[in-house]
Amino acid sequence: MTESLSRGAEIAVIGAAGKTGAAVVAALEGLADVRRVVHTARRPGDFAVDLDTGTGLDEALSGCRGVYFIAPNVHPDEPALLRNAMGAAASVGVEHLVYHSVAWPYTPLMPHHVDKARCEDALRTFGGLRWTVLQPCAYAENFAAVLAGTATTVELPYSPDAAFSFVALADVAEVAARILAEGADIHHGATYELGGPEALSVRDLCDRSGGPVSVNQVSVDEWMSRHGRNLTDDGRARLAAMFEFYDRYGFLAGGALLESLLGRPATPAM
Ligand SMILES: NC(=O)c1ccc[n+]([C@@H]2O[C@H](COP(=O)([O-])OP(=O)(O)OC[C@H]3O[C@@H](n4cnc5c(N)ncnc54)[C@H](OP(=O)(O)O)[C@@H]3O)[C@@H](O)[C@H]2O)c1
Repeated sequence: MTESLSRGAEIAVIGAAGKTGAAVVAALEGLADVRRVVHTARRPGDFAVDLDTGTGLDEALSGCRGVYFIAPNVHPDEPALLRNAMGAAASVGVEHLVYHSVAWPYTPLMPHHVDKARCEDALRTFGGLRWTVLQPCAYAENFAAVLAGTATTVELPYSPDAAFSFVALADVAEVAARILAEGADIHHGATYELGGPEALSVRDLCDRSGGPVSVNQVSVDEWMSRHGRNLTDDGRARLAAMFEFYDRYGFLAGGALLESLLGRPATPAM
């Protein structure tokens, strides 16, 4: 939990310990008009919450004006987690819930995207909260070692030439923080698709990296045997469906809203 002397809103970030959550917390902590940032995570921390049961949410969200909801990746029932958070937020008088969705949520070939489409619908029809939805494309930071120039090999379970509108996670986090600070009077009812500034493939990222990087496409099964061992069967199936989709269609999103919300050009992926 971070306190600053300036007056302003209290904002809670649900899922603060993850990759996205840490970026949103960092962006919020740089804003003078946010008085206090409440971090929630599954692990004991500032506020330990269990999104599956809702335990700890009322206490964590109490006194907050805004909440940023980030679900764990490829959860088997993301709508149930959001329902727990919406119920707790409404019961303690939160004004504004901002939901971290994804670009192209209604994509029947990707069940975890469809769950986010269901979440968006649940939020819009809930009635007890004002809301905003952010729909980021794939983060450039999914290839952090390539961006840092330290990768020598990238193993991919889809075509290295598939096109993505990779977006900088820090840009997404800056927009999220600004929307939370500005609040529901300005952003209630809005759904913002957040793509990066150009369509790039993973091969393009590797070509722009500091040193030579070899890109190897492997089968989804091969990739899972090396990188998916800690996932549940359901999690593996959801990721496999995503990789098969990426291979055929890539994953693009518009960048105009991101730049407009940032008030500056978006950060290039490389
Ligand atoms: N990666 C992308 O390119 C991208 C693009 C658009 C949208 N997204 C979405 O962004 C979201 C976050 O992704 P991420 O990679 O940042 O996730 P992440 O790093 O895996 O973080 C997920 C967080 O959720 C927590 N968590 C898991 N189960 C929980 C439970 N039952 N109760 C409370 N907390 C729980 C985890 O806590 P522990 O640390 O204790 O496990 C972790 O802090 C996902 O929904 C993903 O679909 C990702």
